Order: sequence, then C-alpha cells, then structure tokens
Amino acid sequence: MKPGLPLIRHYLQFKDFRAEEYAYLFERAAIIKKRFKNYEKYTPLVDRTLAMIFEKASTRTRVSFEAGMYQMGGSVVHLTTGDSQLGRAEPVEDSARVISRMVDIVMIRTYEQSKLEAFAAHSRVPVINGLTNEYHPCQILADLYTYIEHRGSIAGKVVAWVGDGNNMAHTWLQAAEILGFTVHISTPSGYEVNLEVAGLRDASSFKVFDNPMDACRDADLVTTDVWTSMGFESENEARRAAFADWCVDAEMMAAAKPDALFMHCLPAHRGEEVSAEVIDGPQSVVWDEAENRMHVQKALMEYLLLGRIG
Ligand code: CP
Ligand code: NVA
Repeated sequence: MKPGLPLIRHYLQFKDFRAEEYAYLFERAAIIKKRFKNYEKYTPLVDRTLAMIFEKASTRTRVSFEAGMYQMGGSVVHLTTGDSQLGRAEPVEDSARVISRMVDIVMIRTYEQSKLEAFAAHSRVPVINGLTNEYHPCQILADLYTYIEHRGSIAGKVVAWVGDGNNMAHTWLQAAEILGFTVHISTPSGYEVNLEVAGLRDASSFKVFDNPMDACRDADLVTTDVWTSMGFESENEARRAAFADWCVDAEMMAAAKPDALFMHCLPAHRGEEVSAEVIDGPQSVVWDEAENRMHVQKALMEYLLLGRIG
C-alpha cells in the first residue's frame, strides 16, 4: 500500500458501503466497461498485486478478478487451500499478516464470514469478500449494475427471491435496505433467511411469502440460486425434496411484470431451481450479469486502492 493513503476500507458485506458510494461505483463501472468494449487501455493499477484466496471452487469470480486486474495493469497471485499453508492449519491471522505485506489488495472466498473478518482485521490492505456462507456482495453489485443497465434505477422496485435463504438472499436483503427497493422472499420451510445474519435496521424492505408464485406477483426482477450451496453438499438429497416447488418456470415468470428480468448468479441447474425455458429465454440476463462481475469489480478495486477518480 502507498504511504499516506487514508484508512483502509474493506468490502466484507454489502452494507459496508453507503448508497452514494454505490451510485459512484455504478458510474465508474459504466465508464470502465465502455473503455473495455472500445479496446481503450486503462491501466491505473500498474505495479499493484491482487492476492486471490479460494477455499471453495469458482469460475466467474476467479476469471473476473484475474482478467480485471490484468486489464488494469496489475498482477495476480492465486492461492487455494490445497496449495497453500491455509490448508495445513496456519492461522488465518498469520496468513493475513504475511500476505498483506506483499500485495496491495486481497480477495477471499471462504466458508465462515468470521474467517474473512479475522483476515481483514489483521490485513494491512483492503480485503474483498469473494463469497462466504453468509454473503456474496460482489455478485449483488453486478446484479444491481445489470438491472440498472437494462431498466434504470432499482429504487422502489420489487425483487422476488425464490429458493434458499442463503448468502445471495442475505445480500439482496442488505441491498434493498440501502438502495430503497423491496425483496419478496419465498423459501421452503426450514430454509428461511437468517435475519440476524442479514443484519437489517428493520423489516420494512422485505416481505415473506409461503408460495413462490405470490412472491413473484408483479415483481420487476425474479431471481434464484442453486438449491444446495457450496459447503452444504451433505444436505443435497433433503434439499432436492424440500425445494421441488421452488423452480422458477414460465408460470412463475408470468406472475411477474411483463417486462420483469430473470437473474441467476450461476452456476445453474436447469430443471432444478430454474427451467431451461426461463434461463435461456428472452427475460433472462444471466450472461450480462456474469460479464458485469468483471466491470463492477474493476470499479471496486479502483475505488479501494485509489479512492475517487476525478
Ligand atoms: N457467481 C459466482 O460467484 O460464480 P463462481 O462460483 O463461478 O465464481
Ligand atoms: N449460493 C451459491 C452461490 C455460488 C456462486 C453458493 O454459495 O454455492
């Protein structure tokens, strides 16, 4: 980290940033994306290094952070549990002290949020949450940016969450409170969101529905995720039974507004949480969503390392 920089900012959960910071990030993401599409070189992170630590599998998160960092002139170190001392029980605090003396920014995908927080507490450089059991803020950053690209402001809109009360659901709840929209949540019994984890000020930004069709009624965006998140594979069979009615299909999409979008963070299982007709259909923006991970994360890294530009 360059001397003289103000207090380190981390991005550990969605509520770490304020609404006006999100507005700034979305503006920057649009500029950065446009430059990329026009093959314009933009390398503000020359000589900066990103360490990426993966304790769970990834395609999108790895490619988007790695490609994004190289495009901005920086470089990347990729670590996994299997090929580092993290997998041999070196304390996370010691790992943070060491890694953060050698790189400028760190992205971590791990299990418990508490592990990410312990790393951040001992890091000299900004730390980004690349997914934990509790939250997935970079994905929601991309989803919101994608919504805005297609439909404009999300303020006052309704997002239907159909499925597991998981890391994605908790993050949508945080985003709704900060950005002023409403989440309609429908989860099978026993798989509800954990409101303590979501950590909301009050219950005004979400409504709970037993029937997923009711959650989708008049929604502006319908979104879902896998029935079994990483780390919960032993529950797979029980979940397949419990979630059978929580498949976003054409009938559910028909309950939403006619111009409603469909999103999924991917990877998806066609025929489980979403029908092929919906995810491969005209309302689906899942490929834009995946691509936008890179553009918003470039804006995020720029912000954490260089502050506001201009
Ligand atoms: N959506 C998402 O985070 O994808 P990966 O697991 O492939 O990184
Ligand atoms: N909820 C999923 C998201 C994968 C990107 C998981 O945690 O596995």
